[in-house]
Amino acid sequence: MTYKSMPKVELHTHLEGCAPPSFIRGLAKEKSIDISGVFNKDGTYAYRDFDNFLQVYEAACTTLQGPQDFYRLVKAVLQESAAHGVVYQETFLSPDFCGGGDLAAWRDYLAALETAAAEAEVEFGITLKGIVTCIRHFGPDAAKPAAICAAETFGDFITGFGMAGGEMVGRPNDYAYAFDMAREAGMPLTCHAGEWGGADMVADTITDLKVQRIGHGVNAIHDPKLVAQIADSGIVLEVCPGSNVFLKATGDWADHPIQKLRDAGIKVTVSTDDPPFFGTTMTDEFDMLAATFDWDSDDFKALNQTALDAAFCDPTTRAKIA
Ligand code: HPA
Ligand code: ZN
Repeated sequence: MTYKSMPKVELHTHLEGCAPPSFIRGLAKEKSIDISGVFNKDGTYAYRDFDNFLQVYEAACTTLQGPQDFYRLVKAVLQESAAHGVVYQETFLSPDFCGGGDLAAWRDYLAALETAAAEAEVEFGITLKGIVTCIRHFGPDAAKPAAICAAETFGDFITGFGMAGGEMVGRPNDYAYAFDMAREAGMPLTCHAGEWGGADMVADTITDLKVQRIGHGVNAIHDPKLVAQIADSGIVLEVCPGSNVFLKATGDWADHPIQKLRDAGIKVTVSTDDPPFFGTTMTDEFDMLAATFDWDSDDFKALNQTALDAAFCDPTTRAKIA
């Protein structure tokens, strides 16, 4: 059984992290950029651990040098996602990689991203929305211009604000100014927490950044009180099991906490994070959930509904996808 063609809603992807290796190699060749060290001999992305993953990710990003490159990236990524049945995808976009946090430059990148998304919707039948993210290991000062870019472009395509990057850098409260700015602009919020940090990181993220969703959040499982609190609050977890298993953030599939989190009444969703980096696809995620936890098509329908309800898009878009 494969769940390849089942319609899917995916809330947690990083745009550059979805780039097929061949796409990045093609850009590097066109521009004569040396990205040796980014790939293994077999053509897959090469890195040792999460910190090194972030370095290799940023090295791959050096090939993306203007709005037109991001236009091409969006087309390549959405073609691939649609091939796995994804009908609605949210992706993290970083002004740091799109104009270095400058608002005028960000607007130029955004125009190209939106054009590509609109074309892909017609060509591949997939809807894309963007969540502007600051990058935690770039520090709180860099988070502010990212939040300004987010607040100034919040609308139909940019639907939320969040934070990615090295989770163990600083504490959530260090980034409260940026999250406050986005919240005051009316934006829904999400933040990576509890992938590498413990349950305390998830708790502080909820308290200090007042997010509606948590990226990963799986380490909440170690604190039963927090698990109950998340279930009561309706905060949604963007769980990425294939990413967690590949990076060894959790144990193997059989030990992954997604089933326990779901059984405790937490709203869980499933995403691929950075699919070619972690050797996964939405088809693989669904197939592994079916094989490991016996999830059937009713479970996947419920999973999709949870994701659709938690999507940051406007009600008209949500109704169109449903
Ligand atoms: N986690 C955190 N930050 C990231 C990731 C990720 O998987 N991908 C790109 N930035
Ligand atoms: Zn992520």
